[in-house]
Amino acid sequence: MPSPLRLDPVQETALLTLYARALDSKAPASILGDTLAAAVADRIAGDTGYDFAKLKVKPSLIAGTALRAAKIDDVVRRFTATHPDAVVVDLGCGLDTRSARCDPPDGVGWYDVDLPEVTDLRRRYLPDRTHLIAADVTEPGWSQALPGDRPAVIVAEGLLPFLPGGSFPTTIRRLTTRFPTGELVLNGYTRFAAWAMKYHPSIKALGIDAAQGFDDPHEPEHWNAGLTLVAEQLLTRAPEVAAFPQPVRALTRLLAHSTAMSRQGTRVLHYRF
Ligand SMILES: C[S@@+](CC[C@H](N)C(=O)[O-])C[C@H]1O[C@@H](n2cnc3c(N)ncnc32)[C@H](O)[C@@H]1O
Repeated sequence: MPSPLRLDPVQETALLTLYARALDSKAPASILGDTLAAAVADRIAGDTGYDFAKLKVKPSLIAGTALRAAKIDDVVRRFTATHPDAVVVDLGCGLDTRSARCDPPDGVGWYDVDLPEVTDLRRRYLPDRTHLIAADVTEPGWSQALPGDRPAVIVAEGLLPFLPGGSFPTTIRRLTTRFPTGELVLNGYTRFAAWAMKYHPSIKALGIDAAQGFDDPHEPEHWNAGLTLVAEQLLTRAPEVAAFPQPVRALTRLLAHSTAMSRQGTRVLHYRF
């Protein structure tokens, strides 16, 4: 007898991105090749009866989610290759299989952080070699569990719009000041993109009214978190767009002509501190 999942809508977004990567892995020209995501999604559906179809995942979400994950993985891989004693902190990790994809050197300490309901699921479906922290990332205290004397790469994928107003900079500042040096990588949402998310079919299906975002990629340099922008990657212009299915590819290439329009789509923001 399946035992249904008990997640609130924000926690349920972990299943949305998992499923997007799972579907990408089954596409003829997969961008991320995350077959573990597909295996986990299948097991969750089998055990709990969860209806992934209700998430209304569209081809544009599949391609965009896979591509942003691939670009964020690149940053994590480069950082852990040059800092084999690094700490990786994946904030709002959901059910992401990033540590398996990045396969860091043995000396790396990997910390996955999410709300307890989600970390319980992770423990069940992704019992891997990472340290799991069950916490609200906006709360002080949990970061004391991190080894603060090592270089760190902090990841915040798909998290920013779901945190209550103003809490993202505070959360990031608390972390960057805990480590001697490091990098931060996130997928950015403009204010408009964060506001418009509520009209996205998948977010609408979950009934979430997401709100946080920022427009200027330099804005985090003013958060008193010691951040300096390394790069803003507008994913409409990434070579991997060639693997997007039509008509998503054609539309993405059209948007790529405009920086302002591209910023409303998926962008990966990379900082050092
Ligand atoms: C869109 S999902 C992204 C998950 C994962 N990063 C990925 O890309 O698949 C957003 C995640 O943020 C988590 N989250 C939201 N608010 C949080 C908070 N205050 N503290 C910890 N995690 C949070 C949710 O539980 C969810 O797993």
